[in-house]
Amino acid sequence: MAHWIHDDIPDQTGRTAIVTGSNTGIGFEAAKALAEKGADVILACRNPQKGQAAVDRILAGNPKGTATLLQLDLADLDAVKAFADRFAEGHDRLDLLILNAGVMVPPESTTAQGFELQFGVNHLGHFALTGHLLPLLKAAEGSRVVVLSSGAARMGQMDFDDLQFTTRGYQAWPAYGASKLANQLFARELQKRLQAGGSDVLVTAAHPGWTATDLQRTAGLFRFLNPFIAMKPPQGALPTLRAATDPDADPVDYFGPHGFMEARGYPVKQRMVDAALDEGVAARLWQVSEELTGVRYGL
Ligand SMILES: NC(=O)c1ccc[n+]([C@@H]2O[C@H](COP(=O)([O-])OP(=O)(O)OC[C@H]3O[C@@H](n4cnc5c(N)ncnc54)[C@H](OP(=O)(O)O)[C@@H]3O)[C@@H](O)[C@H]2O)c1
Repeated sequence: MAHWIHDDIPDQTGRTAIVTGSNTGIGFEAAKALAEKGADVILACRNPQKGQAAVDRILAGNPKGTATLLQLDLADLDAVKAFADRFAEGHDRLDLLILNAGVMVPPESTTAQGFELQFGVNHLGHFALTGHLLPLLKAAEGSRVVVLSSGAARMGQMDFDDLQFTTRGYQAWPAYGASKLANQLFARELQKRLQAGGSDVLVTAAHPGWTATDLQRTAGLFRFLNPFIAMKPPQGALPTLRAATDPDADPVDYFGPHGFMEARGYPVKQRMVDAALDEGVAARLWQVSEELTGVRYGL
Protein backbone atom coordinates (compact mmCIF):
# COMPACT_ATOMS: atom_id res chain seq x y z
CA MET A 1 0.00 0.00 0.00
CA ALA A 2 1.22 3.50 -0.81
CA HIS A 3 2.52 5.56 2.08
CA TRP A 4 0.46 8.52 3.32
CA ILE A 5 2.48 11.66 2.53
CA HIS A 6 2.07 15.43 2.32
CA ASP A 7 0.48 15.14 -1.13
CA ASP A 8 -2.40 13.25 0.52
CA ILE A 9 -3.45 16.26 2.61
CA PRO A 10 -6.75 17.43 1.12
CA ASP A 11 -7.25 21.08 0.26
CA GLN A 12 -7.81 23.07 3.47
CA THR A 13 -9.04 26.31 1.94
CA GLY A 14 -11.59 28.01 4.17
CA ARG A 15 -10.66 26.00 7.26
CA THR A 16 -9.38 27.68 10.40
CA ALA A 17 -6.86 25.71 12.45
CA ILE A 18 -5.14 26.30 15.78
CA VAL A 19 -1.88 24.45 16.40
CA THR A 20 -0.46 24.75 19.92
CA GLY A 21 3.32 24.88 20.33
CA SER A 22 3.87 25.51 16.63
CA ASN A 23 6.96 27.71 16.68
CA THR A 24 9.18 24.64 16.30
CA GLY A 25 9.31 20.88 15.77
CA ILE A 26 6.25 18.89 14.79
CA GLY A 27 3.81 21.71 15.48
CA PHE A 28 5.68 24.05 13.16
CA GLU A 29 5.72 21.50 10.35
CA ALA A 30 2.03 20.77 10.82
CA ALA A 31 1.16 24.49 10.78
CA LYS A 32 3.29 25.04 7.69
CA ALA A 33 1.76 22.11 5.79
CA LEU A 34 -1.79 23.19 6.66
CA ALA A 35 -1.12 26.77 5.54
CA GLU A 36 0.41 25.47 2.32
CA LYS A 37 -2.81 23.56 1.70
CA GLY A 38 -4.90 26.70 2.17
CA ALA A 39 -5.85 26.73 5.86
CA ASP A 40 -5.89 29.86 7.98
CA VAL A 41 -3.55 28.73 10.73
CA ILE A 42 -3.22 30.28 14.16
CA LEU A 43 0.15 29.51 15.71
CA ALA A 44 -0.52 29.32 19.46
CA CYS A 45 2.91 29.84 21.00
CA ARG A 46 4.14 30.94 24.41
CA ASN A 47 7.14 32.98 23.24
CA PRO A 48 6.07 35.88 20.95
CA GLN A 49 9.51 36.28 19.34
CA LYS A 50 9.84 32.60 18.49
CA GLY A 51 6.19 32.50 17.41
CA GLN A 52 6.51 35.48 15.07
CA ALA A 53 9.72 34.06 13.58
CA ALA A 54 7.80 30.85 12.80
CA VAL A 55 4.94 32.80 11.22
CA ASP A 56 7.46 34.72 9.09
CA ARG A 57 9.13 31.48 7.96
CA ILE A 58 5.78 30.05 6.88
CA LEU A 59 4.71 33.24 5.10
CA ALA A 60 8.09 33.40 3.30
CA GLY A 61 6.99 30.27 1.42
CA ASN A 62 3.92 32.12 0.04
CA PRO A 63 1.40 29.58 1.29
CA LYS A 64 -2.09 29.36 -0.18
CA GLY A 65 -3.55 30.03 3.27
CA THR A 66 -2.50 32.30 6.12
CA ALA A 67 -0.44 32.09 9.30
CA THR A 68 -1.01 34.28 12.37
CA LEU A 69 0.45 34.31 15.85
CA LEU A 70 -1.70 34.30 18.99
CA GLN A 71 0.17 34.01 22.28
CA LEU A 72 -0.68 31.03 24.46
CA ASP A 73 1.00 29.81 27.63
CA LEU A 74 -0.46 26.45 28.58
CA ALA A 75 1.32 26.59 31.93
CA ASP A 76 -1.09 29.28 33.14
CA LEU A 77 -4.83 28.60 33.10
CA ASP A 78 -5.59 32.33 33.13
CA ALA A 79 -3.50 32.74 29.98
CA VAL A 80 -5.34 29.80 28.41
CA LYS A 81 -8.67 31.51 29.07
CA ALA A 82 -7.32 34.82 27.74
CA PHE A 83 -6.15 33.08 24.56
CA ALA A 84 -9.57 31.52 23.98
CA ASP A 85 -11.28 34.87 24.58
CA ARG A 86 -8.98 36.64 22.10
CA PHE A 87 -9.56 33.95 19.51
CA ALA A 88 -13.34 34.14 19.98
CA GLU A 89 -13.28 37.91 19.44
CA GLY A 90 -12.23 37.37 15.82
CA HIS A 91 -13.80 34.01 14.97
CA ASP A 92 -17.25 32.47 15.16
CA ARG A 93 -16.07 28.92 14.47
CA LEU A 94 -13.01 26.66 14.66
CA ASP A 95 -12.48 23.78 12.22
CA LEU A 96 -9.35 22.18 13.60
CA LEU A 97 -7.67 22.21 16.99
CA ILE A 98 -4.30 20.44 17.22
CA LEU A 99 -3.16 19.89 20.81
CA ASN A 100 0.53 19.59 20.00
CA ALA A 101 2.53 21.59 22.55
CA GLY A 102 4.48 19.54 25.03
CA VAL A 103 7.32 19.38 27.49
CA MET A 104 9.33 16.24 28.21
CA VAL A 105 11.36 15.43 31.34
CA PRO A 106 12.10 19.01 32.42
CA PRO A 107 13.72 19.64 35.80
CA GLU A 108 11.09 19.62 38.55
CA SER A 109 8.82 22.61 38.03
CA THR A 110 5.20 23.64 38.29
CA THR A 111 2.63 25.65 36.36
CA ALA A 112 1.26 29.01 37.54
CA GLN A 113 -1.45 27.13 39.41
CA GLY A 114 1.04 24.75 41.04
CA PHE A 115 0.54 21.61 38.91
CA GLU A 116 3.48 19.39 37.94
CA LEU A 117 4.64 20.96 34.68
CA GLN A 118 4.19 18.00 32.30
CA PHE A 119 0.75 17.05 33.57
CA GLY A 120 -0.13 20.76 33.73
CA VAL A 121 0.98 21.69 30.20
CA ASN A 122 0.56 18.47 28.23
CA HIS A 123 -2.82 17.55 29.72
CA LEU A 124 -4.50 20.14 31.94
CA GLY A 125 -3.67 23.18 29.79
CA HIS A 126 -5.01 21.42 26.71
CA PHE A 127 -8.05 20.15 28.61
CA ALA A 128 -8.90 23.73 29.61
CA LEU A 129 -8.18 25.11 26.14
CA THR A 130 -10.45 22.58 24.44
CA GLY A 131 -13.23 23.25 26.92
CA HIS A 132 -13.07 27.00 26.29
CA LEU A 133 -13.06 26.51 22.50
CA LEU A 134 -15.72 23.81 22.36
CA PRO A 135 -18.61 26.12 21.39
CA LEU A 136 -16.59 27.30 18.37
CA LEU A 137 -15.69 23.74 17.41
CA LYS A 138 -19.34 22.77 17.62
CA ALA A 139 -20.24 25.73 15.43
CA ALA A 140 -18.11 24.39 12.56
CA GLU A 141 -19.23 21.58 10.31
CA GLY A 142 -16.78 18.68 10.18
CA SER A 143 -14.54 20.05 12.92
CA ARG A 144 -11.79 18.03 14.54
CA VAL A 145 -9.65 17.89 17.67
CA VAL A 146 -6.27 16.14 17.36
CA VAL A 147 -4.49 15.09 20.54
CA LEU A 148 -0.74 14.41 20.48
CA SER A 149 0.37 11.49 22.60
CA SER A 150 3.53 9.39 22.63
CA GLY A 151 4.89 5.88 22.86
CA ALA A 152 5.85 7.01 26.37
CA ALA A 153 2.18 6.54 27.31
CA ARG A 154 3.16 2.87 27.77
CA MET A 155 4.98 3.77 30.95
CA GLY A 156 2.20 6.03 32.17
CA GLN A 157 0.00 5.36 35.18
CA MET A 158 -2.81 7.50 36.54
CA ASP A 159 -2.13 7.63 40.26
CA PHE A 160 -5.12 9.70 41.38
CA ASP A 161 -3.73 9.93 44.91
CA ASP A 162 -0.60 11.68 43.68
CA LEU A 163 -1.14 13.16 40.21
CA GLN A 164 1.35 15.97 40.92
CA PHE A 165 4.16 13.66 42.15
CA THR A 166 4.26 15.38 45.51
CA THR A 167 4.03 12.35 47.82
CA ARG A 168 6.31 10.15 45.67
CA GLY A 169 8.71 12.93 44.82
CA TYR A 170 9.21 14.12 41.27
CA GLN A 171 10.15 11.47 38.69
CA ALA A 172 10.60 13.01 35.26
CA TRP A 173 9.92 10.02 32.98
CA PRO A 174 6.94 8.56 34.87
CA ALA A 175 5.46 12.06 34.98
CA TYR A 176 5.92 12.44 31.21
CA GLY A 177 4.39 8.98 30.66
CA ALA A 178 1.41 9.85 32.86
CA SER A 179 0.79 13.08 30.94
CA LYS A 180 0.90 11.24 27.60
CA LEU A 181 -1.43 8.52 28.89
CA ALA A 182 -3.73 11.32 30.03
CA ASN A 183 -3.71 12.60 26.43
CA GLN A 184 -5.08 9.27 25.17
CA LEU A 185 -7.64 8.97 27.97
CA PHE A 186 -8.78 12.53 27.29
CA ALA A 187 -9.19 11.89 23.55
CA ARG A 188 -11.40 8.86 24.21
CA GLU A 189 -13.52 10.47 26.90
CA LEU A 190 -13.97 13.68 24.91
CA GLN A 191 -15.15 11.74 21.86
CA LYS A 192 -17.49 9.62 23.98
CA ARG A 193 -19.07 12.66 25.62
CA LEU A 194 -19.41 14.55 22.35
CA GLN A 195 -21.15 11.61 20.72
CA ALA A 196 -23.43 11.12 23.70
CA GLY A 197 -24.39 14.77 23.39
CA GLY A 198 -25.21 14.39 19.70
CA SER A 199 -22.20 16.40 18.47
CA ASP A 200 -20.32 15.32 15.35
CA VAL A 201 -17.00 16.92 16.35
CA LEU A 202 -14.39 14.26 15.56
CA VAL A 203 -11.58 13.48 17.99
CA THR A 204 -8.45 11.75 16.72
CA ALA A 205 -4.97 11.27 18.13
CA ALA A 206 -1.43 10.82 16.91
CA HIS A 207 2.12 10.14 17.98
CA PRO A 208 5.19 11.07 15.97
CA GLY A 209 7.40 8.08 16.74
CA TRP A 210 10.90 9.34 17.34
CA THR A 211 11.48 12.71 15.74
CA ALA A 212 14.50 14.96 16.31
CA THR A 213 13.13 18.18 17.84
CA ASP A 214 13.67 20.53 20.76
CA LEU A 215 11.60 18.10 22.85
CA GLN A 216 14.79 16.21 23.69
CA ARG A 217 16.43 19.40 25.05
CA THR A 218 16.64 17.91 28.55
CA ALA A 219 16.89 14.23 27.51
CA GLY A 220 20.64 13.86 26.89
CA LEU A 221 20.78 10.29 25.57
CA PHE A 222 17.91 10.85 23.15
CA ARG A 223 19.46 14.10 21.96
CA PHE A 224 22.78 12.31 21.37
CA LEU A 225 21.07 9.54 19.37
CA ASN A 226 18.83 11.88 17.36
CA PRO A 227 21.10 12.17 14.29
CA PHE A 228 21.38 8.37 14.01
CA ILE A 229 17.83 7.20 14.69
CA ALA A 230 15.24 9.95 14.71
CA MET A 231 13.11 11.16 11.83
CA LYS A 232 13.23 14.76 10.71
CA PRO A 233 10.29 16.99 11.71
CA PRO A 234 8.56 17.15 8.27
CA GLN A 235 8.12 13.37 8.37
CA GLY A 236 7.43 13.33 12.11
CA ALA A 237 4.49 15.66 11.50
CA LEU A 238 2.77 13.24 9.12
CA PRO A 239 0.81 11.29 11.80
CA THR A 240 -0.51 14.61 13.12
CA LEU A 241 -1.44 15.76 9.64
CA ARG A 242 -3.16 12.50 8.84
CA ALA A 243 -5.11 12.60 12.10
CA ALA A 244 -6.07 16.18 11.26
CA THR A 245 -7.10 15.82 7.64
CA ASP A 246 -7.67 12.23 6.48
CA PRO A 247 -11.33 12.15 5.41
CA ASP A 248 -11.48 8.45 6.29
CA ALA A 249 -10.43 8.93 9.92
CA ASP A 250 -12.84 7.44 12.46
CA PRO A 251 -13.53 8.54 16.05
CA VAL A 252 -10.45 8.10 18.30
CA ASP A 253 -8.28 6.79 15.48
CA TYR A 254 -4.67 6.95 16.63
CA PHE A 255 -2.05 7.48 13.94
CA GLY A 256 1.63 6.65 14.35
CA PRO A 257 4.56 5.59 12.18
CA HIS A 258 4.33 2.11 10.62
CA GLY A 259 7.93 1.00 11.19
CA PHE A 260 9.82 -0.91 13.88
CA MET A 261 8.47 -0.12 17.35
CA GLU A 262 6.41 2.67 15.74
CA ALA A 263 9.57 4.81 15.94
CA ARG A 264 9.90 5.65 12.26
CA GLY A 265 7.93 5.44 9.06
CA TYR A 266 4.69 6.71 7.59
CA PRO A 267 1.41 7.17 9.43
CA VAL A 268 -0.96 4.25 9.85
CA LYS A 269 -3.66 3.49 12.40
CA GLN A 270 -2.08 2.21 15.62
CA ARG A 271 -3.48 0.91 18.90
CA MET A 272 -3.67 3.10 21.94
CA VAL A 273 -2.11 1.60 25.06
CA ASP A 274 -4.28 -0.79 27.11
CA ALA A 275 -4.39 1.62 30.04
CA ALA A 276 -6.09 4.17 27.81
CA LEU A 277 -9.00 1.81 27.14
CA ASP A 278 -10.18 1.82 30.77
CA GLU A 279 -13.40 3.84 30.65
CA GLY A 280 -13.58 4.17 34.43
CA VAL A 281 -10.13 5.77 34.58
CA ALA A 282 -10.97 8.05 31.65
CA ALA A 283 -14.16 9.23 33.36
CA ARG A 284 -12.31 9.84 36.62
CA LEU A 285 -9.54 11.79 34.89
CA TRP A 286 -12.21 13.93 33.22
CA GLN A 287 -13.85 14.71 36.54
CA VAL A 288 -10.53 15.50 38.22
CA SER A 289 -9.46 17.67 35.27
CA GLU A 290 -12.68 19.68 35.52
CA GLU A 291 -12.07 20.18 39.22
CA LEU A 292 -8.40 21.15 38.83
CA THR A 293 -8.92 23.52 35.90
CA GLY A 294 -12.33 24.85 36.88
CA VAL A 295 -13.37 24.36 33.24
CA ARG A 296 -16.67 22.52 32.92
CA TYR A 297 -17.62 21.30 29.48
CA GLY A 298 -21.30 20.74 30.15
CA LEU A 299 -21.00 17.42 28.30
N1 LIG B 1 9.70 14.44 19.06
C1 LIG B 1 9.34 13.20 19.40
O1 LIG B 1 10.06 12.23 19.16
C2 LIG B 1 8.03 12.99 20.08
C3 LIG B 1 7.69 11.67 20.44
C4 LIG B 1 6.47 11.44 21.04
C5 LIG B 1 5.59 12.47 21.27
N2 LIG B 1 5.92 13.75 20.91
C6 LIG B 1 4.95 14.81 21.18
O2 LIG B 1 4.85 15.67 20.06
C7 LIG B 1 4.47 16.99 20.50
C8 LIG B 1 5.35 18.03 19.85
O3 LIG B 1 6.66 17.85 20.32
P1 LIG B 1 7.97 18.23 19.49
O4 LIG B 1 8.76 17.00 19.39
O5 LIG B 1 7.64 19.00 18.29
O6 LIG B 1 8.69 19.15 20.59
P2 LIG B 1 9.27 20.65 20.54
O7 LIG B 1 10.04 20.84 19.27
O8 LIG B 1 9.98 20.84 21.83
O9 LIG B 1 7.94 21.52 20.48
C9 LIG B 1 7.12 21.64 21.61
C10 LIG B 1 6.35 22.92 21.50
O10 LIG B 1 5.55 23.07 22.68
C11 LIG B 1 5.74 24.39 23.15
N3 LIG B 1 5.44 24.54 24.56
C12 LIG B 1 6.10 24.03 25.62
N4 LIG B 1 5.56 24.49 26.76
C13 LIG B 1 4.53 25.30 26.42
C14 LIG B 1 3.61 26.08 27.14
N5 LIG B 1 3.65 26.18 28.48
N6 LIG B 1 2.67 26.80 26.46
C15 LIG B 1 2.64 26.76 25.11
N7 LIG B 1 3.52 26.04 24.36
C16 LIG B 1 4.45 25.33 25.02
C17 LIG B 1 7.19 24.69 22.84
O11 LIG B 1 7.44 26.08 22.93
P3 LIG B 1 8.96 26.63 23.15
O12 LIG B 1 9.68 26.46 21.85
O13 LIG B 1 8.74 28.06 23.54
O14 LIG B 1 9.56 25.79 24.23
C18 LIG B 1 7.25 24.16 21.42
O15 LIG B 1 6.69 25.07 20.52
C19 LIG B 1 4.53 16.95 22.02
O16 LIG B 1 3.23 16.83 22.54
C20 LIG B 1 5.33 15.71 22.33
O17 LIG B 1 5.00 15.14 23.58
C21 LIG B 1 7.12 14.02 20.33
